[in-house]
Amino acid sequence: MAVGPLVAAAPYLIQQKYQDYTADQHGVWEELVRRRRGQLDAHACREYLEGFEIIGLQDDRLPDLSAITDQLRPRTGWSTTPVSGFLPAEAFFEMLAARMFPTTTWLRGRDSLGYIPEPDIFHDVFGHVPMHAHPVFADFLQHYGSVCAKVKDPDALERLGRLFWYTVEFGLIRQDGKIKVYGSGVISSHGECTNVIDGGCEVRDFSLNEVLSTPVKVDAIHKLLFAIESFDQIYEAMRQAEKQEAGA
Ligand SMILES: [Fe+2]
Repeated sequence: MAVGPLVAAAPYLIQQKYQDYTADQHGVWEELVRRRRGQLDAHACREYLEGFEIIGLQDDRLPDLSAITDQLRPRTGWSTTPVSGFLPAEAFFEMLAARMFPTTTWLRGRDSLGYIPEPDIFHDVFGHVPMHAHPVFADFLQHYGSVCAKVKDPDALERLGRLFWYTVEFGLIRQDGKIKVYGSGVISSHGECTNVIDGGCEVRDFSLNEVLSTPVKVDAIHKLLFAIESFDQIYEAMRQAEKQEAGA
C-alpha cells in the first residue's frame, strides 16, 4: 500500500540506536516483562498473546523496532517507527493514517517500574504493538488516524479521543465468558489490570455513543471501562463515528 511522504510528522522521526542500550536497560525490560507475564497469560485477549509471538518480542531484550516492522509489514502493513517523543495531534494522526506507529525509544529507570507519566518503549511496544498484527484491529487503527486527520472541530476531536482512550489505550473484550484486556494502558500496568480483574472497575458493554460522551480521566484509576464482543465491533464503530463526527 503506497503512502505519501510524511509532512507534519517528519521532524519527529529518529533512528533507534539499538546498540546504545546498556545491559542494565535490557535488565529493566526483562524485569518489566516478568512482572506482567503471569497476569497477561491469564487475562490478555488471545489476539494480543498471538501478536506478541508474531512480532517476535523477547522477554529479556529490548525490542529492535526495525525487526518488529519486518514481521508486521507483510502481515498488516504496519511499521513500528521511532520518534523523538510526544507528537502533536496532526503528526500523530498522519502517522496512524500511514500505518506507522510512533514509538518512543527511551526506557523508564528502575526507580519507576510501576508508573511513568509519559509513554516509554515498554508502554508503546509491549503495550500497543502486538495488537497491530491483528488485521481487523490494524485496519481500525489506520482508519481512526485517517478520519481524525480530517477533523478540525475540537469538540469532535475530543469525542474521537475518547474512542481511542476506551479502545486502544484501555479496551476490554469478552472472550470465553470472561473479561480480557487488549488496551495498552491495561496491558502494561499492573495496577490498572488488577483493578479490572478484581472488579474495582465497572465494565459496561461497548456503546459508541456512550464512549464518545464519557470524559477521560488521565490521573486516576478507572472506575468505568467498556468491553467489546469482537474487534469487528470497533471497526464498525469507527465507520459510524466517521459519519457522525466527520460528516462522511
Ligand atoms: Fe498508549
